[in-house]
Amino acid sequence: MNEIIKSLFHRKSVRQFTESDIDEKTRELLLSAASEAPTAGNQQLYTIIDVRNQKIKDKLAVSCDNQPFIRTAPMVLIFCADCKKWDDAYRSIGLKPKSAGEGDLFIAIEDAVIAAQNVVVAAESVGLGSCYIGDIIENREYHKELFSLPDRVVPICMLVIGYPTEGQKKRNKPTRCEQKFIVHTDSYRRMNGDELREMLSYKAGDKSYEEWLTAFCKRKYDSDFCKEMTRSAKGYIKEFE
Ligand SMILES: Cc1cc2nc3c(=O)[nH]c(=O)nc-3n(C[C@H](O)[C@H](O)[C@H](O)COP(=O)(O)O)c2cc1C
Repeated sequence: MNEIIKSLFHRKSVRQFTESDIDEKTRELLLSAASEAPTAGNQQLYTIIDVRNQKIKDKLAVSCDNQPFIRTAPMVLIFCADCKKWDDAYRSIGLKPKSAGEGDLFIAIEDAVIAAQNVVVAAESVGLGSCYIGDIIENREYHKELFSLPDRVVPICMLVIGYPTEGQKKRNKPTRCEQKFIVHTDSYRRMNGDELREMLSYKAGDKSYEEWLTAFCKRKYDSDFCKEMTRSAKGYIKEFE
């Protein structure tokens, strides 16, 4: 394995950080790594909000589904799918293009997430740990005001970054499903209950498959946070209608 592949396999989410700060040079390196990511038409259809203010981190630790570790992260980055800036540029010279639509949103989301993942990989390579926070999609009205987000700028993912504690370094990375279930050849193959059970049952541990899957569904798919995410996302999507 080369160093890059080793690093991809070694990376895992980190949710406990030491008190060491991240120096400015390293911060700059991570942000530059984001800029080097592939981007549709080289448009960089994203804006990164670098959250430096501790009071804002404290607020995010609550508004992003009450995850206190967010406030302890030395570096917090919010990746916004930005369908505003090019539109503003076009209009600033008197052009009257269409408004950004759902397709523009999709491509900007891709851009934003790819840039974020470059930061994750860069962070791992310099001994930093990171964790995505999907809950930044929630509480649209609150986050729009907190970050002065205009319509058609959507906070799509957040990264918290810092030096991992020893405990986090030792933590086992969660195992993935077998690849045969994840990679389908040439066309999508809908899996039946038996195959899905085969794919997922390793996650059940000492519980029965039914017991584990019922609890998991309640905790994730059918959870209040997921319902809030959908409510909030609907509001963002409406901005593109
Ligand atoms: C889109 C996305 C959203 C996530 N949101 C959260 C989150 O809000 N809180 C959290 O602790 N982890 C979050 N994670 C981290 C996942 O839980 C983690 O990636 C997954 O359990 C696999 O573990 P690993 O990253 O250690 O390999 C998120 C990951 C992704 C990709």
